[in-house]
Amino acid sequence: MRHLLDSTDLTTGEIEKIVLRKKLATLFYEPSTRTRLSFTAAMMELGGQVLGFSDARSSSVSKGETVADTVRVVSAFADIIAMRHYKEGAPRVASEFSRIPVINAGDGGHSHPTQTMTDLLTIRRELGRFDHLTIGLCGDLKYGRTVHSLIKAMRRYEGVHFVLIAPKELALPDYMKAELGNAYTEVSTLEEAMPIVDVLYMTRVQQERFADRDEYERLKDSFILDERLMALGKPSMIVLHPLPRVNEITVGVDKDPRAAYFRQVENGKYVRKAIIYTLLSDEYLHAEPTGHKGEADTCACHNDRCIATTEPVEQRTYTDADGIKRCYYCDHMI
Ligand code: CP
Repeated sequence: MRHLLDSTDLTTGEIEKIVLRKKLATLFYEPSTRTRLSFTAAMMELGGQVLGFSDARSSSVSKGETVADTVRVVSAFADIIAMRHYKEGAPRVASEFSRIPVINAGDGGHSHPTQTMTDLLTIRRELGRFDHLTIGLCGDLKYGRTVHSLIKAMRRYEGVHFVLIAPKELALPDYMKAELGNAYTEVSTLEEAMPIVDVLYMTRVQQERFADRDEYERLKDSFILDERLMALGKPSMIVLHPLPRVNEITVGVDKDPRAAYFRQVENGKYVRKAIIYTLLSDEYLHAEPTGHKGEADTCACHNDRCIATTEPVEQRTYTDADGIKRCYYCDHMI
């Protein structure tokens, strides 16, 4: 074990690593406030610098450049990439062509792992544990990538049960239900869920994922958390939301101490600092690549939101621990 008791206890090389002089490229093909700005703040507070784009129309993507070529180029300018993309699996494709670490900052309706790390830090700080929790997931469970990532992370803990609250049009997709086994219950009202949940994870109905505007209008206010519903919840419960919110939580709820969503935002900067710092450590930079999903074979993905349908990659599948064949990039069941 080493202690830090004097400034000379660290070598000059170790000091260089703590006071990062590295560059983060934020490649955001979709809008963002929290994720992009918290990554930016995190890198600045670590002593690093940030470059990139917040609107793909201002980059050569608008001329038809692929994700593969973009990250090859950015690898020459930066030390680490945070990528948000509307196509599912885009950061995975990026990782196959990049010479620097890639962080998924949200890909379509698929995954948002740094949001999940934010959610986990918030749960740990607010409730002190990850096991034996009942987690209510409410709103858009079909396209909600934060929900999908949270399920994957939390299902690994003992005694975790999910309560799904969504209109049938926005129900959790089968490929995600398959992840849950029998650790979930579906209910049709927040009244049923409130008395039993330890964490209520609210989500926005995402206008940008709808092809049919009328359907969005019909579904957008399906579930609204207000003070009347909060009165039905346990005193110890917490309400999380990845934000932005639209109508699904009334502002009257904000003053309830159980409303943890603005504390959750702040936690996002702390976890992104830790993630950047960890991925840029020698141990991680020189480690074997992670994220391989076992033996893969060639097969076409039928998810039209999957990146493999538009990038120069071989369409592949893998078989998960439950024997289910899935797309290598977007995880949809084949
Ligand atoms: N939670 C989240 O991803 O927010 P932004 O879209 O503002 O980044």
